[in-house]
Amino acid sequence: MKPLTITSRLEVYDSIDEVPGDVQDLMDKAIKVRDSAYAPYSNFKVGAAILLDNNEVVIGSNQENASYPSGLCAERTAIYAAGATYPNSRILKIAITAKSLRHKVVSPVPPCGACRQALVEYEVKQEEPIELYFMGETGKVVKADSIKDLLPLVFDNTCL
Ligand code: THU
Repeated sequence: MKPLTITSRLEVYDSIDEVPGDVQDLMDKAIKVRDSAYAPYSNFKVGAAILLDNNEVVIGSNQENASYPSGLCAERTAIYAAGATYPNSRILKIAITAKSLRHKVVSPVPPCGACRQALVEYEVKQEEPIELYFMGETGKVVKADSIKDLLPLVFDNTCL
């Protein structure tokens, strides 16, 4: 037996004011689209904004359903829209923010496991990493250089 140690390096910024200007702009778009979330069941609103190499920004918010599993997270809403609208563009960055209608979300909210899996598919497709930034409603912002930093031991097409 040999132990396998997995490490990820993330960057933590004290506030949105500390991140680079282009990321602040992207996060502003995520904050704006967060309001469009349809979240009557969880009262938890998430916004995602994706920057492409053609300078377009594609946005998404979570969309819930009375049949709970039929709803979709903000990140997948956004990345599938990006894939459908600009199938040949490279995805550079994604900014994510979450807000609860019940309490102030001060801790950074990372993408759920299913969204990590969906996001990493596009990294594999484009053979280039996607930078990811996530935050709550306020407070610290966490940056990952690659989705794989949040999803070690990835299941991708090389496993098939
Ligand atoms: N949600 C997202 O939009 N993204 C995530 O990564 C985590 C969860 C949504 C799904 C659901 O509408 C609500 O947040 C509560 O789980």
